Amino acid sequence: MAVVVVGNPKPASRTRQAAELVVQRLTGAPPEAVIELAELGPALLGWGDPAVEAAKRTVRDADLVVVASPTYKATYTGLLKLFLDQFGAGELHGTTAIALMLGASPHHALASELTLKPVLSEIGCSCPTPALFLLDSAWEASPELDTWVERARDVLAGPA
Ligand SMILES: Cc1cc2nc3c(=O)[nH]c(=O)nc-3n(C[C@H](O)[C@H](O)[C@H](O)COP(=O)(O)O)c2cc1C
Repeated sequence: MAVVVVGNPKPASRTRQAAELVVQRLTGAPPEAVIELAELGPALLGWGDPAVEAAKRTVRDADLVVVASPTYKATYTGLLKLFLDQFGAGELHGTTAIALMLGASPHHALASELTLKPVLSEIGCSCPTPALFLLDSAWEASPELDTWVERARDVLAGPA
């Protein structure tokens, strides 16, 4: 099961669309669930909220999770951090994750690799592909995306 987590305070964003596109292109089907963290809002500030627990369960049950965020101040959003902090170290052992960030500037093209991926590793995800960074002006169609998808498919398929 492939799931998308969207850490954009603004719902129905390009970040969400890009994450859904990545799942579609990698698996040939849309994600089975999309978690819009903006909908959880202040519930993310405490521990044990039922809606947050349900979102965590959805992520735990996924085989593949695309964790997506816009770039804010050279890193992923505080909203996404609040959700990731809800998981214990190593809790997502066995889950394959892809770190995806959209940004306006190519100066921050390494932000997904250098800021988001380490947190996903800390909570136990396997991140076998390079993290993906897409410019907001070209998230839908870019040679970088095509190359990334082609290579990621190989990596996710495992050794022949
Ligand atoms: C508060 C804020 C901070 C931002 N900081 C950066 C940044 O440091 N680097 C960057 O490349 N883009 C930055 N951006 C631009 C967004 O990352 C970019 O427009 C992204 O596509 C927004 O996602 P969305 O289109 O899904 O809303 C920032 C935007 C906002 C609102």
